[in-house]
Formats: sequence, structure tokens, C-alpha cells
Amino acid sequence: MTEQDFTADTSEVHHPAPALVAGLAHPDYLEQRSAALRDPVGFWRDRAVELLDWFEPFSQTLDASEAPFYKWFADGRTNICLNALDRHVAGARRDKVAFIWESEQGETQTWTFAELAADVNRFANVLKSLGVAKGDTVTIYMGRVMELIIAMLATTKLGAVHSVVYGGFSEQALASRIEDCQSKVLVTCDGAWLRGKTVDLKDIADAAMQRCPIVQSVVVCRRTGQNIGMEADRDHWWHDLMASSVASEDCPTEVMAAEDPLFILYTSGTTGRPKGVLHTHGGYQVQIATTLSYAFDLGNDDVWWCAADPGWITGHSYIVYGPLILGATSVVYEGAPGYPEPDRWWEIVDRYSVSILYTAPTAIRGLMRFGDEWPLRHRLDTLRLLGTVGEPINPEAWRWYHRVIGKGNCPVIDTWWQTETGGFMITPTPAVPLKPGSATLPFIGVLADVVDEDGNPCADNEEGSLVIKHPWPGMLRTVWGDPDRYVEQYWSEFSEQGWYFPGDSARRDPDGYIWVIGRMDDVIKVSGYRLGTAEIESALVSHEVVAEAAVIGLPDELRGNRISAHCILNDGVEPADDLADRLKRHVRAEVGPIAVPQEIHFTASLPKTRSGKIMRRLLKAQALGQPLGDTSTLED
Ligand code: WTA
Repeated sequence: MTEQDFTADTSEVHHPAPALVAGLAHPDYLEQRSAALRDPVGFWRDRAVELLDWFEPFSQTLDASEAPFYKWFADGRTNICLNALDRHVAGARRDKVAFIWESEQGETQTWTFAELAADVNRFANVLKSLGVAKGDTVTIYMGRVMELIIAMLATTKLGAVHSVVYGGFSEQALASRIEDCQSKVLVTCDGAWLRGKTVDLKDIADAAMQRCPIVQSVVVCRRTGQNIGMEADRDHWWHDLMASSVASEDCPTEVMAAEDPLFILYTSGTTGRPKGVLHTHGGYQVQIATTLSYAFDLGNDDVWWCAADPGWITGHSYIVYGPLILGATSVVYEGAPGYPEPDRWWEIVDRYSVSILYTAPTAIRGLMRFGDEWPLRHRLDTLRLLGTVGEPINPEAWRWYHRVIGKGNCPVIDTWWQTETGGFMITPTPAVPLKPGSATLPFIGVLADVVDEDGNPCADNEEGSLVIKHPWPGMLRTVWGDPDRYVEQYWSEFSEQGWYFPGDSARRDPDGYIWVIGRMDDVIKVSGYRLGTAEIESALVSHEVVAEAAVIGLPDELRGNRISAHCILNDGVEPADDLADRLKRHVRAEVGPIAVPQEIHFTASLPKTRSGKIMRRLLKAQALGQPLGDTSTLED
């Protein structure tokens, strides 16, 4: 089903400037890429050796004996902190700035690699004092503060497994994620700043813990200073523990097998509850370090700004781990795009001499709406590359980003990937000719294609399923606690061929460029956030007046998609004027603000198959005034 139908011009090509290509670390990328098509495993093996340190080297790169449960670098020993922190602290980057953090109110703080490593060690010792050991899970639910990054790294350092829950999620979403991975420790904040208001993180966490009382210790970082309840014995202040004798600056890095769990990140799938996507220490590092150094040419002098939230995969891979592994300086901004002023972002670019900016189409479209005068007030002349992720970028937004922000000199790196893939999978590098709206070519070492239902390659420009035909090091290893679901969700569509099915539709043009169209399943991308219809529907039916609900995504100029809900009310309930608003508030409280439907329709019935499955496809076709297609399975 087509999510977006941009009138893309596949013949508009932006060729890279020869001078720019000559200055790249990989000017011969396209030739390297052709060579790697014959030996993807060899390509990844070489990067694993070249870009990373290992406690003990690996002897086998890929073990496919239990496919689709692939193992990479399995007998190697590492810990992502070895490469993200330890080796820099022991080397020349010790006093280099790792992070520049700016608050919504405009305060700035910096951490050198040595300072960051010291805080990570101290917090790792705090976690240890709360009983956290190798293999345990720690849930992290915070705003965009440096303590979030420190908590992630500290967990990893001990060989424990973090599950970061985005601070925009509410109590039910948090509770189900804590429960699924059985975290006994939760790290949170009193509140978070969002557009000058506070989000009551601790209150929400308290409500979540009441729903699932398995958390034994809570560490609370003070950010907003708002009033919160602190439960004796369970809740501790971050600053108290960090000032106590347990928080020593010495903490050995746990030696991990490459395939040991690193983190779980919950993401929405086709049906039911969110899936805990599992990544591991070895392959994930190789994927993110390689992709970041090739696609963004990230070097020692760059100032990198990935404007995502650390609570999503983009933040995990390209705010926290990737830039640290490569020893880069990164900017983290606490606030939202365009807040407090429409040019806050452009101020930040100039203030810190940002050389690479990586963000989402929805942010670009939002900033574009303020008008060109805001970016034109700023020099923006330190920028050399721009990037985008999260949903297809409409060519209009691409061109604006390229022309107004990049002054026509900065290639736009459109990266297609997923929580499950760990890192970029389809992306140009600055050496690749660009077409606005296309993520261009599968990354070096990645075998991707567009195929029909039977797995035959689609003809040029014909819509089909995107597939990945060969394993890659950053692939998810399983769905936490549910290996059957891993096989079912990702490997059953093309099981005969053994291909990974990401759930997206796409086209391949005659130059081999891939144009991602959108999700083929019941996942909706709203402002780049990934939501499952099932989560929103179950929030709606958990309200006392709703009997049944169906949620679909409809095209939206700013957000990419908007959420449209259809509800059947319980017998005897009349849709009062304020009912839609009440239901929206209910979804906000249960799942979070990002999941609130933009529109709610009340209806007497929903289209269903004879087996009782709601046919969302029909609701969508109807809303868009499109032909209904095959209705032979419709019950009524
Ligand atoms: C979509 C985000 C088109 C796609 C990193 C994918 C994109 C889903 C792009 C994963 C892009 C991501 N062009 N579509 N450059 N990047 N997507 O797990 O539908 O939050 O399957 O990971 O976002 O979303 P997720």
C-alpha cells in the first residue's frame, strides 16, 4: 500500500563536486562497493579489524549454521565501551571534547572523553551497588540529558543490557516494556523540559511501576526541580549516589563475547505488543562505525550533530555509540526543532561550528515552514554534509535542505535503515550522485533488492517488497524472549530464499537506485516516530466507552502520516461533543503524545475478514477515495 506518492523525478541527478570527492576518506567508494558485492563477508571482516579494538580477536566472521540466528565474530571478545571510551581515554583523544550539550534554556556543558569515561565509571559503580550485574536489564526513561547517555554507557560497561524507553511514552507503554524485559532497576528524571513545559517523567514512572511492581531500585536525576514523590528504600537521587562512596572512578570494562546482548529497544510491529529488538556487542559496533565513517565521512575534525532523541535507534547508533567509537565531537540539544525560536538550530550550527547535521524529513519540513529568513540570518558555512532518516523525504524538502541550509554545497545523505538493522542499509556516501527522494544504493557490503511476491526481481520502477538478501553484522539477533516471533516477523515472508523482510515497499529505477515508498504493514510513521496501530487501538479500547477500534495512517504534509482512528462505541453510548477529545487525552495518558490520533471517527461497524481481522486497507482506501481492491475476504 502506498504511503507516499511523491511525484519524484528520477532523472534529477546531483553529481558530487570533484574537489569534495577528492577530500573524502573513501573517494573510490563506488569501485570498492562493486568489489565488495562479490565478498560482503570479507568487507565486514576487514572493517572489524581496521576500525575496532578487540580484547580477543575473532577467527570466524560469519557463522550461518543456525540461520536465521546468524552469529558474527562469535569467538571475538569485546565490549562496546572498549571502543567508545577506553581506547580514547588511553590515547590521543583523552582531552578531546566528546559531547557539547545545550539545554532548552541555553546553558552549555561539555564532556571530554576522559570526563565522560569518569562519569560512566562512577555511574557503573552506582548500578553495581544496586545489584546490577552482567546480563541484567536496566530500563532508562529520561529526557534528552547527558545523564541518559551516561546511564546507557554505564550499563553497557558492566555487561548489563539497557532498554531505553523514549521519554515521550506514557505509563502503559513504559510498564509493558519494563515487564517484558523484567528490569529490576529503572533510571529516570524528575521531569523533562519540552517546549518550555515539563513532562512529569517520575510521576509517569510511578504509575507504570504500580502496574508492574517488579522494579526494586529507581535512580532519579534532577532536571526540572519539580515536586515528586520519592519512595523510601526504592528511590534514590542520582546526585546523592554519585556523591557517595560507592561511586568510585575506577570500573573495569566487562569482557563480553561478541554475541552477548548489548541492548534491547522496543519497536512497533505488525501485531500485538511492541517487540524487544536485541542487538549484541560485536556486530553492532562494526555496522555503526563502518556506516558512519563511509556515509558521513566522519573524521577527527568534524563536529557531528545528530538531532534525534537518544531514546530511539537513531540516537543509540548515531548520537551515542557510533560517534564515540570514531572519536568524534558531537552536539546534543535538549529541545525540539524550532524551539524557543525558529532559528535556534541554525544558531547552534554556527555556535559550535557543526560540520554535519543529521535529522528527519519531518523536522526539515517544519523548519522550512518558518520561511527562509530564519536560516538566512546565520552563516551555516561550517556545514559540509547533511543527512536525513526516518521516512521518505519529499523532493521539495530535500531541495530546500540542500539549497537553503547546505547552500548547494552539502550532499544530502538520505539513509534508509531500521531499529532492526542497527545501522544504515541503503544510503549514498558523498561520492555517490544523488537523486532527491531516493536513499540511492544499498550500502557497501549490503545486498538489497526489490522483488515481487514470489521473490523475482521487480522490473525497473515497479513497486515491490524491499528485501535484504545477505546477513549483515548489525542485524537484530532475535526478539527478546520470543525467538519464534523473530523468525515469523522477519524471515517467513521469503523463507525459501532465506531473505530478511523489512516490511517496506520500494521501487528500483533503471540506475539501480532504490526509492522507498513506505510500510506495507500496520506500522505508521508519524513525524518519523514508529508506531503500531495495535498499540493505539488497545489504548482506545481500554477506555470504558469504546468497544472496538481501528487505526490507520493517512498522508500528511508535515508529519508524513497522520493517525486516523475509527471507533465503535459500546451499546447505548452516544458520541458526545467532547468524546473525541476525551479519547485523545486517554491515548496520550496511556501511550504518549506521539500516539494521539489527529482524527477520531465514530462508526457502527468496521470492515472485517470472515476470520474477524479488521481490514484497515479498506478504511484507508475509503478515506483516500481510492478503489477498494479485492474485497472477496470481506465478511459483510
Ligand atoms: C522508515 C529508523 C524512507 C522505513 C532509523 C523503515 C525510511 C522504518 C527511511 C524504520 C528513509 C527509515 N527513507 N523510509 N531514509 N529511514 N524509514 O525502526 O519505513 O524507527 O522501515 O528506524 O522507517 O523505522 P525505525
